[in-house]
Amino acid sequence: SKMLYNDQIMERDNNINIEDRAYQFGDGVYEVIGVYDGTPLMMDEHMERLERSARELRLNLPLPVSEIKNNLEKLVDVNELEEGIIYMQVSRGIASREHAFPEPGTQAVTIAYTREETRQSDLEDKGGTAVLTEDIRWLRCDIKTLNLLPNVMAKQKAVENNSVEAILHRGDIVTEASASNVFIVKNGELYTHPADNYILNGITRKSIIQLCNELNIKVNEQTYTVDELLSADEVFISATKQDIIPILKVDDQMIGDGKPGKITHKILKSFRSLYQ
Ligand code: PDD
Repeated sequence: SKMLYNDQIMERDNNINIEDRAYQFGDGVYEVIGVYDGTPLMMDEHMERLERSARELRLNLPLPVSEIKNNLEKLVDVNELEEGIIYMQVSRGIASREHAFPEPGTQAVTIAYTREETRQSDLEDKGGTAVLTEDIRWLRCDIKTLNLLPNVMAKQKAVENNSVEAILHRGDIVTEASASNVFIVKNGELYTHPADNYILNGITRKSIIQLCNELNIKVNEQTYTVDELLSADEVFISATKQDIIPILKVDDQMIGDGKPGKITHKILKSFRSLYQ
């Protein structure tokens, strides 16, 4: 399959430069966009978030996001991708290694590729388990940067415990998970951490909140504690392409009756109608 390198679609080969700042500092931003039936879902929202992440890091995007979007859509077409994801990142560019920003005029480097991925509808229907782990990330988790080591360590802990996710907490407060947002249901209402600097404002999270408005399910964007998580009626996580996964157990604590919850199922059904 083909990749995007800056604004060129080319063969996917080893054209990575060892002095790309993405390598040396994780100095860049990224997006993962879901593709359903050949169409990227919520592309404009992803491009808006990309623009914001770049702005917060004072990284000049090489092209207006409208053109980046066109290039990504072209890549999906060329690769004839039906089901899967687009991975894209923009680094601050290629320069001799110095921590501070490179010379003005250094070109940012954009790369993107697509990956076929079948739907995980089984996991979405049946749910999975999660582990808890301390959130040791920096205080700008709202920026989708390439620096993902704390997320990598957390997710590995989940995998080693046969879990789908690691749910992060800062002290008592649940923030999000290693690569997804977390919602709890209590007495028919949803709770999720507010979209501040402690979490990534997920595109899936945002569309769930919109759907809940239409479904007349109240969503409280407010913090909740680890105890409240463990005693919730339902718990689910949300992320691009994984959509919504019910969490049936956290560490050793069963959630509700240990089965995917009714409200979670209702939201999942309505989320699926966005692309089916
Ligand atoms: N991760 N929180 C974190 C820390 C994430 O990495 C992600 C997504 C989300 C969910 O955001 P969205 O709904 O926009 O995908 C929340 C992507 C999928 C990844 O890194 O692979």
